[in-house]
Amino acid sequence: MKLQRVLQYAKFLLAESIEEGEIAVDATAGNGHDTLYLAEIVGENGHVYSFDIQQEAIDATTNRLIDHQLDKRATVILDGHQHVAKYVTETIAGAVFNLGYLPGANHEIITTGETTIQAIESLLSLLKLNGIIVLVIYHGHEGGKTERDAVLNYVSNLPQKYFQVLKYEFLNQKNDPPFIVAIEKTRKTHFDPK
Ligand SMILES: C[S@@+](CC[C@H](N)C(=O)[O-])C[C@H]1O[C@@H](n2cnc3c(N)ncnc32)[C@H](O)[C@@H]1O
Repeated sequence: MKLQRVLQYAKFLLAESIEEGEIAVDATAGNGHDTLYLAEIVGENGHVYSFDIQQEAIDATTNRLIDHQLDKRATVILDGHQHVAKYVTETIAGAVFNLGYLPGANHEIITTGETTIQAIESLLSLLKLNGIIVLVIYHGHEGGKTERDAVLNYVSNLPQKYFQVLKYEFLNQKNDPPFIVAIEKTRKTHFDPK
């Protein structure tokens, strides 16, 4: 038996909860790897909304989709994920975050606890029953531990009646390896759209 690596497990969780024809969100587009993966899962009849605050990331993601002829399946948005509710009103089947900075770009432009939590809150109310939000938490960079702790504190306090929260982490790896937090909605909440 081989334990799934962190990125592999994140993909597995998304593929388990998102079906062909559904809506998904990539909250941190970056170089577009996750947007492309979600576009493949949702198929021709589904759609992906992908967010990033850097034009560089928007361009990289758009180009990756075009290269794979999947650009019609995604809307790539130059705005912070904390504003997701401005753009997405449909029920979503799943969402993914890769926290931290854009590899190969300015390491000072990072996700932050405050806006990440705002985005999670908005996404939770759009999430279908048994849908999932997957966060890959990188915390080795400056500011990473503050965000990690804020997010862990927030998700640990989500009501058990409505959500199951999982942490998937290798405990004996050096150099602050990334880990996963996944939130599954197990019951409809009073703030879900009717
Ligand atoms: C670790 S990278 C994402 C990597 C990406 N998933 C990929 O496949 O390449 C984190 C990204 O989050 C973006 N970001 C930072 N704050 C953000 C915010 N408030 N809303 C959306 N994206 C944000 C950064 O610009 C950066 O591109």
